[in-house]
Formats: sequence, structure tokens, C-alpha cells
Amino acid sequence: MDGPVHRGRPGLASVGPVNQPETSALDAFLAVFESLPRQGPGSRACTAQALAMCEGLPPEPDIVDLGCGGGAQTLDLAELTGGVVVAVDNHAPFAELLTRRAAARGCSDRVRPHIADMTDPGLPAERADLVWSEGALYNIGLAAALPRCHRLLRPGGYLAFTDAVWRTQDIPDAVRELFADYPTMGTVADVLALLPAHGFELIGHFPVPDDAWWDEFYTPMRARITELRANGSFGAEGLAALDRCDAEIDLFSEHGHRYGYEFFVARRPS
Ligand SMILES: C[S@@+](CC[C@H](N)C(=O)[O-])C[C@H]1O[C@@H](n2cnc3c(N)ncnc32)[C@H](O)[C@@H]1O
Repeated sequence: MDGPVHRGRPGLASVGPVNQPETSALDAFLAVFESLPRQGPGSRACTAQALAMCEGLPPEPDIVDLGCGGGAQTLDLAELTGGVVVAVDNHAPFAELLTRRAAARGCSDRVRPHIADMTDPGLPAERADLVWSEGALYNIGLAAALPRCHRLLRPGGYLAFTDAVWRTQDIPDAVRELFADYPTMGTVADVLALLPAHGFELIGHFPVPDDAWWDEFYTPMRARITELRANGSFGAEGLAALDRCDAEIDLFSEHGHRYGYEFFVARRPS
């Protein structure tokens, strides 16, 4: 594979060290995440809500989906628009998964999996009508991601993305640790301040609701963890990775009001 799929963070319990040949932590982690309907919090309803905020899109918009994972939102975007979605991810198995899913959903002609790093995806500048990213820009940090999104967009094009935000100030250490790989994580206000600094005007934003964490993400994740523990194929490292995924779910159950995902929609001015 092209590197760790995730580092820390919802969706993304830390895999711990993955460079020792004897460890099966990464295998266990991928066995969980590659099986899920989506690789982070989200829902078709949230995608549709954010898309509806992008008024005046052409009938067949050119869309780039950065960090698409298995493509849950990619497929929704293809179905909810008449456009073509270039779906970028640096983990090749997700491109294969998305190819299969697009065929099953009858939209292979409008979904283009593209294995690349979002830092330099090798796509033309100023072409996209819409750049989308759910739960993925944090991998390179918003300050690095926003200029790259801006460059991909034609003037007047939209950017829609989710990002993890703090919702309270009293954050327990265990929660801070969960987000340790995202040291620049801020509040909604912090993200709103970054947008104009990178040439975007805000259209709007809304919190990703709790059901979008559970229905297609943590509930199937819990079931998958149970299944993998029972099948006995993982050693201590793998089981510890499963424990970390489980602990992430427990943290959200207990402290989910202290952090969350926010959907932001912004526009590159014409
Ligand atoms: C939390 S998952 C979200 C996936 C999907 N958007 C979803 O919500 O189901 C983050 C995705 O970003 C991808 N990713 C991480 N770093 C990346 C990078 N530098 N370039 C491209 N994709 C990256 C990972 O492989 C993973 O699929």
C-alpha cells in the first residue's frame, strides 16, 4: 500500500508502530476500515445538504473528491449531480473498492478513481466546479490543503469539506490523544478565519449530526471488531489495534459533545 491510511483520529484510531514486520496492527486496522460503508463520519443526507448550498453549479459539474476512501460520498455526488467525480486517494485498495461499488451502483461512467496524493494530485488547475473532501484534508492540514483546493477550482467554484473541530474547552487527555496527529485542530471559528485567508468566501456550515457517526461508521465498526476478535487471526499487535478502534468508539459515546465534525461550504470568488 502507499502508506498508512489514517493516522489517529476518528475514523482513525492510531495503528501504532507499523514498521516492524511482525506486527499485524496495520492489517487489523485495514481489516476494519476497508470493510466499512464509509471510512469516517458522514451520511448521504449531509452530503446532499452541503451540495444544496452550492447554488448555480452547472448541470454536469466537474467534481474532485479528495481523500475519497471507499467512495461513499463520491457515489452520492455522482448520483445527486449529473457530473463526473474524480476520486483521489493515496490508498490503492480504496480505488479498487470504489471501482467495484461504482459498477454496482451503475455510475462507472461518471466516477474516476485516481490514486494520488492530495498534496500534488496531478490534476489540471482551475478546472473543477466543485472540490469535495469528507474527513480527509486534515491529513495534510487545512493550511496546506486550502491553497491546493483553491488551485483546482475555477473562479466561482465551490469547496465543501468536513473537518474535526473542538466544541468545548474542557477536553480530557484521552480525547486529545485521539487527535494527537492533528495538532492544528481548532474550533469552527478557527476554520472560518482560515477560509478568507486562503481566498475563499464562506457560504455556510453545519455540524455533522450524531447519526452520521453511528449509522455507517461506528455501528458497523463495532460489529466488525467483534467479528475480527472472534476469528482469531490476529496476534497481540492486531488485537491491540482492534482495542484502540473500540476505545475510539467509547470516547465518542462519552465525549462526543466535546468534539465533532463540521461541514463547511465555501466558494472561490468569481
Ligand atoms: C477518514 S478517511 C475518509 C474517507 C472518505 N472521505 C469517507 O468519509 O468515507 C481519509 C481518507 O484520506 C486518504 N488519505 C490520507 N492521506 C491522503 C493523502 N495525502 N492524499 C490522498 N488521500 C489521502 C486515506 O487513504 C483515507 O481514505
